[in-house]
Amino acid sequence: MLNLDQLFAEFPTLETERCIIRPFTPEDAPAFFEVMRHEQVTRYIGQKPMASVEDAVARLQRFQRVHDQQEGMVWAVVLRETNQVIGNVLLWNLNPAHYRAEVGYILGPEWWGKGLMTEIVTRVLDFGFDTIGLHSIEAQTDPDNVASRRVLEKLGFVLEAHYHENYYDPTRERFTDTTVFSLLVQNWKGQKKP
Ligand SMILES: CC(C)(COP(=O)(O)OP(=O)(O)OC[C@H]1O[C@@H](n2cnc3c(N)ncnc32)[C@H](O)[C@@H]1OP(=O)(O)O)[C@@H](O)C(=O)NCCC(=O)NCCS
Repeated sequence: MLNLDQLFAEFPTLETERCIIRPFTPEDAPAFFEVMRHEQVTRYIGQKPMASVEDAVARLQRFQRVHDQQEGMVWAVVLRETNQVIGNVLLWNLNPAHYRAEVGYILGPEWWGKGLMTEIVTRVLDFGFDTIGLHSIEAQTDPDNVASRRVLEKLGFVLEAHYHENYYDPTRERFTDTTVFSLLVQNWKGQKKP
């Protein structure tokens, strides 16, 4: 069983070549709103684009509760070059008995297609497996979300399930499918990193 008190005693900052992955602060709300106000960002995550900075303030408070309740960690992704918040990455749905968690991620559209999220998730997977001691990490995505699927495939995630119309998307007002991917620690450690 993972020791959650030990794990949540500190909220680490992680680094990659181009990004700093750090805890959010309340001052990040306007920048996070800039990320979340685009329809193409929220299209596959069952949410409407944010309408105001207040929406971002409320979301950052929710992220803090996720941490306080030891359910997971939601980090801000900051571009080193400009010191700008450009998205988030999270490890949540922590299941300490089974050494498993789920990874999620969002990037503002301006920064898509540069390999950034693959770089960021690589660091978060190292943290999840090496520092937390997870055995497996899951990712759920809409099958139409080609970019997200590609990120997962580049990192060695394997498709394990395809649920049909298991999710009611209130923004698109229809049932949508979910694909479930997972990565085992031995496969992560045994492969060449992207
Ligand atoms: C998913 C997301 C984080 C990817 O971020 P990113 O930094 O652009 O990802 P990367 O550049 O590391 O990799 C994206 C890959 O998808 C590919 N890709 C993107 N759009 C594609 C498309 N329409 N068709 C085919 N491939 C596509 C890119 O070419 C790249 O693959 P490659 O390196 O083999 O060329 C970003 O698109 C995003 O934030 N989307 C909105 C939020 C979201 O859906 N999050 C995931 C929820 S599960």
